[in-house]
Amino acid sequence: MLHCQGCHRPDGSGVPGAVPDLRGSLARFLELPRGRAFLVQVPGSASSRLSHAELAAVLNWMVVRFGPAADARAAVPYTAEEVARLRAHPLVDVAGARRALLARLGKTPEAPVRPVRPAGSPEELTAHSN
Ligand code: HEC
Repeated sequence: MLHCQGCHRPDGSGVPGAVPDLRGSLARFLELPRGRAFLVQVPGSASSRLSHAELAAVLNWMVVRFGPAADARAAVPYTAEEVARLRAHPLVDVAGARRALLARLGKTPEAPVRPVRPAGSPEELTAHSN
């Protein structure tokens, strides 16, 4: 709630055109080894102030919470050690990595195209006031 929902929203629905909807799609990334790494290496995860153990726990919770259920059931939970290893290699081209993964998964990329500020930040409040 403190670190992630400003952008992802409490229900995971995100912000259209800026933050992807996690519902029914997040766990699909786990079908590919690179996708499994992506969920840890994406900036919102990798650069958060969560410890490796905390990030592993949040990601494991997200996989089950947002599904799809079949992928969540098949998923091997993240460990703090795995998160530590993957986190040491941040993504250089986040959008490109995401597009490539979605193409391999047969999903239409649902766009984050512009950088976003967490909801409620001064920038967003200004942007929405006119
Ligand atoms: C500043 C906004 C912001 C915050 C805060 C944020 N995220 Fe994200 N998140 C995004 C955006 C935008 C994407 C799409 C990929 C990208 O461009 O980074 C994303 C993608 C993801 C993904 C991959 C799913 C996908 O469909 O791309 C995961 C997993 C994720 N975030 C987890 C987290 C976690 C865990 C936290 C909190 C520790 C968090 N995020 C905080 C904006 C945010």
